[in-house]
Amino acid sequence: MKVVVIQGPNLNMLGVREQAIYGPMKLEQIHAQMKDFADKNKIEIEFFQSNLEGEIVDKIQECYGEAQGIILNAAAYTHTSIAIRDAIAAVGIPTIEVHISNIHRREEFRKENMIAPVCASSVVGFGPFGYHLAMMGMNQIMQEVQAMQAQQQAAQQPQAQA
Ligand code: DQA
Repeated sequence: MKVVVIQGPNLNMLGVREQAIYGPMKLEQIHAQMKDFADKNKIEIEFFQSNLEGEIVDKIQECYGEAQGIILNAAAYTHTSIAIRDAIAAVGIPTIEVHISNIHRREEFRKENMIAPVCASSVVGFGPFGYHLAMMGMNQIMQEVQAMQAQQQAAQQPQAQA
C-alpha cells in the first residue's frame, strides 16, 4: 500500500514562515516523522511539494493506479483551486486533507474550502501533529479497504466441495 503526501505552496518555508501560526518545525522534520510511522506500519510513502497549482494537479493524476491514499495540504490553493478539487475527484483515491492551523478561526477567506468536499476527511488545527493523525487515519482506511478486497475475493472463489 502506497501513500503520497502532497504539500502546497509555501509549506517548504515551514520553520521560517509565520512561526506564531505554523510553529518552528521544518517540513523535512514533519516528513521524517511520517516516514517513521509509514515504515513501522509497512506503508510505502512518497513526498512531494510544489508552489505551482498545475504541478499539484499533475502529481494527483500520477497517483492514479499507483497510490492507494493521498495526504494533501493544498495550503492557499485550498481556498481557490477547483482544478485540484477536480483532480482529487477524478482519481477517486481516498484523500485526507491537513491544515496545520485552524482555518476556521482565521480570516474569512480561509473559510472557503474547495478541497474538503471531495476528501475522506480533514485534519485541522493540530499543528504538525495533524500529519501524524492523518497517517493514523490513512492506515485505518487502508486496512478497511484491504479487508473489503479480501472479502470480495473470497466471495468470488468457487465453494470447496464437501
Ligand atoms: C494552511 C492554511 C492555509 O490557509 C494557508 O494558506 C497555508 C497553510 C495550513 O496548513 O494551516 O499555506 O493550509
